[in-house]
Amino acid sequence: MADAHTSFYLTTPIYYVNDAPHIGHAYTTVAADVITRWHRQRQENVWFLTGTDEHGQKVMRTAHDNDVTPQVWADKLVDQAWEPVLGTLNATNDDFIRTTQARHETAVQEFIAQLHDQGDIYEGAYEGPYCVGCEEYKQPGDLLDGTGEYEGEKLCPIHTRPVEMISEQNYFFAMSKYQDRLLAFYEEHPEFIQPASARNEVLGFVKQGLQDLSISRSTFDWGIPLPWDKSHVLYVWFDALLNYVTALQHDADGNPTPERFDEYWPASVHLVGKDILRFHAVIWPAMLMAAGLKLPTTIFAHGWLLVGGEKMSKTKLTGIAPSQIIDVFGSDAFRYYFMRAIQFGQDGSFSWEDMSAQYNAALANGWGNLASRLAAMVNKYYGGALPTAGELTQAEQHIADVAAKAVIDADKAIDAISPNRAIDAVWTLVDALNLYITEQEPWKVAKNEAEAGQGGRLATILVTAAEGLRTLAVLLNPVMPQAAAKLWDSLGAEEYLGALDAQPIETAAEFGRLKPGTTVTKGEALFPRVDEAATA
Ligand code: ME8
Ligand code: MG
Repeated sequence: MADAHTSFYLTTPIYYVNDAPHIGHAYTTVAADVITRWHRQRQENVWFLTGTDEHGQKVMRTAHDNDVTPQVWADKLVDQAWEPVLGTLNATNDDFIRTTQARHETAVQEFIAQLHDQGDIYEGAYEGPYCVGCEEYKQPGDLLDGTGEYEGEKLCPIHTRPVEMISEQNYFFAMSKYQDRLLAFYEEHPEFIQPASARNEVLGFVKQGLQDLSISRSTFDWGIPLPWDKSHVLYVWFDALLNYVTALQHDADGNPTPERFDEYWPASVHLVGKDILRFHAVIWPAMLMAAGLKLPTTIFAHGWLLVGGEKMSKTKLTGIAPSQIIDVFGSDAFRYYFMRAIQFGQDGSFSWEDMSAQYNAALANGWGNLASRLAAMVNKYYGGALPTAGELTQAEQHIADVAAKAVIDADKAIDAISPNRAIDAVWTLVDALNLYITEQEPWKVAKNEAEAGQGGRLATILVTAAEGLRTLAVLLNPVMPQAAAKLWDSLGAEEYLGALDAQPIETAAEFGRLKPGTTVTKGEALFPRVDEAATA
């Protein structure tokens, strides 16, 4: 298992500031936060980067439509929407990069100058379809035929909006020459592109033959100027992908941070949606190879949140704001729901009915009720002081075994980038503990005076449940930090064991850590009842 010397660097995509975030963006950010919090709980050195992608035609046009400059538009969206949503989601990113920051623009120009100097960039003519929604040059064969209002036009398959024909003199990155090295790399590193469906898609694409990539535009100026030809701005994706490196090279104030780069590059995981897989699994490694930089360990492409069978989208205005759900259920429940209900890597959808049902079954009645019953019984039978357990039976050994297995399975699932399986593993302990309480009937044992004192059967049951809950607080802290903190508080664990964040995953299932006599308090419910009317 990992130790404090292990470094773990995870990124989200940097999001376009053409509009405010919806739950699709929140989905990636929450997954990133859960995974990085888990690695921090393992006591590793963790760096979690997110940010915004601010150049290009998509942002420029939105700004113009709103009668402001692109920079004014980007500043407003970052200030009012993209930074605040991180608080709403309870995300603990270590840095936030904006592609309009000087630290980024300067480093991008240095990178691109190097590629130019070494002959990886040449001048040519580009003609072909472009989707501004994707900011991508499309393959003619991938386009859809328009119908209705788009009759006679060719549509982007992701945005179902017409593409635009571009015919320009541009600069090209000689990407095709990296084709064989890329294929060899994919072969040697099966963990590089995940899940398997994503890997297969990329292998198929690259084997068809890579073309060189047009990397500049001269018909608009909202971008980073090419150092050797200021009449061109850099293609927005070339600019954006570099954020993963530029953010480690300087802090937000522009101070050099070489030790950060040494510690965290190459990245452990670039988490992305499947819409932007090829940019990350083909263009990005080719750029890094060209620059002589190490390649990241894993590109993981998750699925889409769908609306009516199509990708939820800013461009199509089908987004639900995260706060709409979080105002009703809280950020913990939001994080739990999206991380558990959708298999990571598959598409999924959101419904108020399902969210409400899961909230009540798993959170309010499952974990929450378990915690409040234990606190109530310790208070009723032992005046709120955790008693001393007596002899353990098979039933207690079973709980300890389930806890130990939950830790191992959840930890493996996080390494496999499967938050849903990690939570499933942890929930085996929630379910086992609820069953244990039901079967052991401590309220009946309490009526037998000989078994209700210190070292008796009642004490053994309550201490076992408390130890199970202590394990759950540690394992669920990365997923539901607010509820886990309330539970840690209720168990009185901080005074004797220290801060919840400092409890290693590795020892989470070691029973006997709580101290007899510790004050167990009946705090507020971990998951208060939600007014049905609010979700209708
Ligand atoms: O593509 N379901 O930015 P973007 C799940 N700036 N995830 C979704 C989603 C949905 N319906 N909609 C968006 C860009 N996402 C570029 C990235 S990176 C160097 C540059 C999430 O604002 C998902 O992570 O279009 C997707 O890949 C990302 O937001 C796209 O955000
Ligand atoms: Mg998009």
